[in-house]
Amino acid sequence: MTEAAPKKEQRRKFQAIRGTRDLLPPDTALWNHVEETAHAVFGTFGFGEIRPPIFEPTELFARSIGQDTDVVSKEMYSFEDFESSALLDYRNAILIWKAEPIGSGPPGILGTGASAQYKPFADRLANFFVLAREAFEKGNVPRTPENESFLKFFEGEMQSFHAKIQSQTIAVLENTVQSLKERSRALKFGDSLTLRPEATASVCRAYIEHNMQQLPQPQKLYYIGPMFRRERPQKGRYRQFYQIGAEVLENVKPDPTRDAAKELAKDAITDAELIQMLMTFFDRLKLPGVQLEINSIGHAADNCRRGYVALLKSELEKVKDKLGADSQRRIETNPLRVLDSKLEHEQPIIATLPKIADHLCDDCKTHYAAVKRELELRGVFYKENWRLVRGLDYYMRTTFEITAQGLGSQNAVCGGGRYDGLVELLGGPPTKGIGFAIGEDRLILSLQEAKDQSLVTSHQPPFVYIAWMGANAYAAAVHAAKDLRAAGTRVELPPVEQKFGKALERASKLGAQYALILGDNEVAEGTWTLKTLADGTQQKFTEPHLLDFLKKL
Ligand code: HAM
Repeated sequence: MTEAAPKKEQRRKFQAIRGTRDLLPPDTALWNHVEETAHAVFGTFGFGEIRPPIFEPTELFARSIGQDTDVVSKEMYSFEDFESSALLDYRNAILIWKAEPIGSGPPGILGTGASAQYKPFADRLANFFVLAREAFEKGNVPRTPENESFLKFFEGEMQSFHAKIQSQTIAVLENTVQSLKERSRALKFGDSLTLRPEATASVCRAYIEHNMQQLPQPQKLYYIGPMFRRERPQKGRYRQFYQIGAEVLENVKPDPTRDAAKELAKDAITDAELIQMLMTFFDRLKLPGVQLEINSIGHAADNCRRGYVALLKSELEKVKDKLGADSQRRIETNPLRVLDSKLEHEQPIIATLPKIADHLCDDCKTHYAAVKRELELRGVFYKENWRLVRGLDYYMRTTFEITAQGLGSQNAVCGGGRYDGLVELLGGPPTKGIGFAIGEDRLILSLQEAKDQSLVTSHQPPFVYIAWMGANAYAAAVHAAKDLRAAGTRVELPPVEQKFGKALERASKLGAQYALILGDNEVAEGTWTLKTLADGTQQKFTEPHLLDFLKKL
């Protein structure tokens, strides 16, 4: 303890940020088991792992997920990314400026030497402006239309401030100073970046960036990692959460002889294979109460989803007064999302709305029927849910969600769907896509609720505690620990000598299966004792036999 050791209250000040949490042992063993199972199962379906960065340009998510979605409009962690520069110092000089009273001469309508008093501020504005314009021209600040118009307006405001300090009262000028300070903040020094709220957009960006359309198609990729959304935290809903996701991306080459029917059938097989992989994964983990729901939301055309949405909107207008505020807003922004409502009193109203299945175009109908057939062929059970529309804008045709037991209201453990055209929207070649993301936190919660972790615990290697006493015994213990650990055995080597009674107590507390008892006598005789802690039985072995025995367990 040093003198500067913080007081208890101070120490308590640091806690994980709301909506984030530490994953701790022994829970992390289950997390690892789940992730290892994903690597193994996805590998058998020919998927390779991709690890995209955790932050990307804000625009990537805004454009793909959709500006009006909850994720983009309210939940993203975005920040401006820039390096410290002289420009920053100049802006700070503006922000921290305070008028120093001059204190000489009689105060008149123009105040006491207003022009002298505000001249230093006007100089700071001018310095900042000159540097800002230069940075803009050189591309050292983003050359966006917003920054361009900032420079134009700021120049005008600066000139008018110059004029005002010749003719205005101090009170008026003080207000102008405040508004100019605020204004100076509007220059964007760097690009807007966002902690990824999901990874489909990142995978599409990577597909384009690495010209993956030139590799064998389709590209089958999966990822495991943290995502960030500023949602209201509750059980199964966090601000930093983990997803295990997979995406299948396939370049579409222009081909006038393409057989449309064959193409739809092929896409349906891709969809069914992906869903089968997902169900195999859940099956391998023995996830309880898994239920797959599927739907088709058609494609963006007048004779398909657009026509349906227009019809839905007009039907919703008729019942608008009976709906809550959220649904009323969604009639304008995204009528499909009204179908997502969980509000009790809206359910009978929603039940009478037109269903998308009755308004799909022929191709989307054919595709949906084929997906169902292919799932049946693979023995994958599903339930159709015409209200399953998903909360992100990029979907078309197949959408699906999986729920599991023990999760309360946040019971969607996985969501996904087809998103042909997304890669193109992001500036890439025409590409088809389908994927899913599993909420790993929810998956783990559901497995823990089921309390069937036999899979995790049954393959644990033995755990040996080496109870040593004496200098010779210590050296032998160090060697034995090295030898056993190299063979994959978990070994605890206490750093201090302990009486055997104490050592055995500690070994039991730690949950060890065996205690290896090593005193100087044992080392001299070459006969070591192994105690099974569960029943207290002891066996004597020569050193090589004992190590061999443990390694083979
Ligand atoms: P999503 O439905 O937004 O889809 O998220 C997928 C899953 O992530 C959800 O079903 C849920 O289990 C989990 N999840 C979402 N938000 C949270 C949260 N705040 N806390 C805990 N778990 C959460 C997507 O993200 C798409 N990118 C899926 C996809 C991939 N579609 C095509 N490819």
